[in-house]
Amino acid sequence: MKLSAKPLKTLSDAERGNLALGLFEEKDTHAAALKAHPALKRLLETGDFKGKANDCVVLYPESGSTRLMAVGLGKRAAFGARQAMEASATAVRRAGKLGVEHLTFALPSEAGASAAVVEGAAEGARLGTYAFDRFKEKKEGEAPKKVSACTVAVSASARAEILEKACHTGAVIGEAQAFVRDLAALPSNFKTPTQLGEEARKMARKTGLSCHLILRDEAKKLGMGAFLGVAQGSAEPPVFVVLEHKPAKASGKAKKPVVVVGKGITFDTGGISLKPALNMHHMKDDMTGGAIVLGLLKACAELELPTHVVGLVPFTENMPGGKAQKPGDIVYAMNGKTIEVINTDAEGRLVLADALCYAERYKPAAVVDLATLTGAAGVALGRFAIGAMATDQRLVERLQAAGEATGERVWQLPLWDEYLELMRGEAADLLNTSGGEAGTITAGSFLKEFAKHSPWCHLDIAASAWGKEEKPWSPKGPTGNGLRMMVQFLRSWR
Ligand code: BES
Ligand code: MN
Ligand code: ZN
Repeated sequence: MKLSAKPLKTLSDAERGNLALGLFEEKDTHAAALKAHPALKRLLETGDFKGKANDCVVLYPESGSTRLMAVGLGKRAAFGARQAMEASATAVRRAGKLGVEHLTFALPSEAGASAAVVEGAAEGARLGTYAFDRFKEKKEGEAPKKVSACTVAVSASARAEILEKACHTGAVIGEAQAFVRDLAALPSNFKTPTQLGEEARKMARKTGLSCHLILRDEAKKLGMGAFLGVAQGSAEPPVFVVLEHKPAKASGKAKKPVVVVGKGITFDTGGISLKPALNMHHMKDDMTGGAIVLGLLKACAELELPTHVVGLVPFTENMPGGKAQKPGDIVYAMNGKTIEVINTDAEGRLVLADALCYAERYKPAAVVDLATLTGAAGVALGRFAIGAMATDQRLVERLQAAGEATGERVWQLPLWDEYLELMRGEAADLLNTSGGEAGTITAGSFLKEFAKHSPWCHLDIAASAWGKEEKPWSPKGPTGNGLRMMVQFLRSWR
């Protein structure tokens, strides 16, 4: 999609073609729009359109624009980047359904023209065209119903270069989130660990990241027994991806890297502790954390972020093959700790244990892991928040602030010692599961044993990774939720 941004002298500048006008709930902000587009008068008078966030009405005026869309922006005081993102996605998705190719999305001067708002509008425009449709039959001669170009128009006070840069930033972030969704939505027969390793390598080559793939033999030498234990049940060999974004002029705190770790289970059958059939196909998204890490590193490179960032993703299937690990097996993690595998379906914490140990070699300023780790995260918070557990309060607060700004919310859970006690074993140092209470926190407590040396935060994205209802900016199925929050977090790192 082609995205651009421009300053408007008056709202009638954007008169021709297909125009979406953002409107606040407050009537005293409607004057300029009414003056430029009298067709809005009746709509606003009837009260059929109240400017509520993401309301959308299409008008066909006698003169002026071909289509005039009124898009609700909500209350003026609550407006920011996130609201701009949602409103532009609403407009672009609706326009796409109508077969519109080029849309102008205009914001009233009361919305301001900050870089953040323009970025949000650009992200939303990209996400408003998102669909996972590569396996759907294309009807001959039928053009895909998607807006192919969108111009974000804001108040005249904005400087063109700033608008252009913000528009580019938003486009990169929106594209990175679409990349995450595509990877998570891809069925497991199209994304074996080997194929995803190649995908990472290809992306790294294009963007200038460095990339190293740790294959089974090297993982063995490194002592990644927990990771390899999960992988041994599958005919597909495991691949541990290492990506690095090292800007030439990283300064201050940015010299020590931030390491981001993603769970990369390309399909989770549960292993010998097999999952029931109902909705098992959703487990193709059990590499969403890994996909976010790949998308995040891609965005870091494309935005030329001044922060040193390392991405680690252990990719493997979790399968019940003839060589699969069995309940009661004991494995050695990279830091020498022994783990009794009580339930082979608690595989995410096993692959992350070794990845968190590996992270230490970078002497990181912070380690953040993202994982579709526990069904219990959805019980605790629903799909409306990412569960966070951390050894460093400042780190989790930064992530929370990034979550508020982007609408990809982060909510903290405690890591008190009592929870870790539940994970202590008889035969081995740790159990990989306990009785069932506080399933999200006991998993986090287990991980803490492998993340002792640097400030660390674990993000359980199990519930927010899968959308149950379609929104203009977010589809049913894989959402890529967490990508925009993490980009925001890294941008505000220094
Ligand atoms: N990948 C699942 C977690 C999951 C469940 C994500 C549902 C999304 C939706 C994870 O590997 C898993 O199976 N966790 C178990 C842990 C249990 C065996 C302690 C779970 O949550 O049931
Ligand atoms: Mn599992
Ligand atoms: Zn899993």
